[in-house]
Amino acid sequence: MKEKWLMLTTIPGLEETAQDEAIEKIHPSKYKIRPENIKGRLSIKISEKHLEKTLRLRSIEYIILLLKTFRVDNTRKALETIYQNMYNTSLQQLGPSFRITCERIGKHQYTSIDVQKTAGQAVVDRYGTKVDLEKPDTIIRVDVIHNTCIIGTLLNHQPLHIRYKRIFHHPSALNPIIAYAMLRSTKIQPQDKILDAFCGGGTILIEALQNWENIETVGLDINEKYIKGATLNADMAHINKKNLRLIVGNACKLEKFLPSEWKPNKVISNLPFGIRSGRKKTIPNIYKDFLTSLKTVLAPENKICLLTTHNRLLKNIADQLGYNIIKEQQILYGGLTCWIIQLTLLR
Ligand SMILES: C[S@@+](CC[C@H](N)C(=O)[O-])C[C@H]1O[C@@H](n2cnc3c(N)ncnc32)[C@H](O)[C@@H]1O
Repeated sequence: MKEKWLMLTTIPGLEETAQDEAIEKIHPSKYKIRPENIKGRLSIKISEKHLEKTLRLRSIEYIILLLKTFRVDNTRKALETIYQNMYNTSLQQLGPSFRITCERIGKHQYTSIDVQKTAGQAVVDRYGTKVDLEKPDTIIRVDVIHNTCIIGTLLNHQPLHIRYKRIFHHPSALNPIIAYAMLRSTKIQPQDKILDAFCGGGTILIEALQNWENIETVGLDINEKYIKGATLNADMAHINKKNLRLIVGNACKLEKFLPSEWKPNKVISNLPFGIRSGRKKTIPNIYKDFLTSLKTVLAPENKICLLTTHNRLLKNIADQLGYNIIKEQQILYGGLTCWIIQLTLLR
């Protein structure tokens, strides 16, 4: 069976997670994270028979079937190089219509639109295929990352983070790729009791229940509207409700709101950052009261995985309260630098 080179895109900072998942599920014969130093990318070589399975990976966004990689400079002369390379690229699976999309990172004397127009013209000149910006049969990616240009075709037209039709949109909804990476990092096992104490629209727990069996989950949010929204989202994702409890409650008083006797051993939450709500000043107290309250309900063996933009604050508070910091991982998410912090409380 033939092998193909793919380039997978993910959240910058989650490349190792994507690599581990790919090794586990699609057995690449070769792989490299951040090829050419490109953040948020992973290139893998896999057998053609595993191509379909790649579409079911949870930690990647797009799959690009690699056709060509070459150097470009940052002057407008690069557009000629892109035209020539695109013209000379054999597009065996080109459908009746196509569109070019471009991700461009770095300083160049040309824009992404220039790249799209130039590469698109080359395809029209060589194949006479029509452009369809709305619903093309083929999407060709022409990415320019600093001085590297990558040409390929997209295997998925819809980003893979769309798992189901979210009927409720939380204003700070988490990308499910990050939710998956956080869950995976805690090594979820059957019988785990998973708490998201700031569950919003339910992203983390829905992701957990879609990927792991025989787990119990509880989600808490102070805002009733979000709990109702999370319930609707869980319905849309066809989640078995018997393993999901959603409660209106305060994460700073977990002992009051969690079902008695229910002791979580995994706590995975996307903490409020206070940026959108404009209540940054309240964040230190929320973090402190949450971690204080968490100590009263945690199972003896536990793992806690929290996403925050306030990494130093969280680590200081956790340290003062006797938590151990196991790992921290920096990611770039929606233009913000965030940290995934893993903690445990030893008893
Ligand atoms: C960053 S959002 C979580 C978004 C969620 N991960 C999602 O994908 O929809 C943080 C959530 O924490 C909730 N929150 C803030 N303070 C809280 C508290 N003291 N107790 C419980 N929830 C709280 C907010 O209502 C908000 O929904």
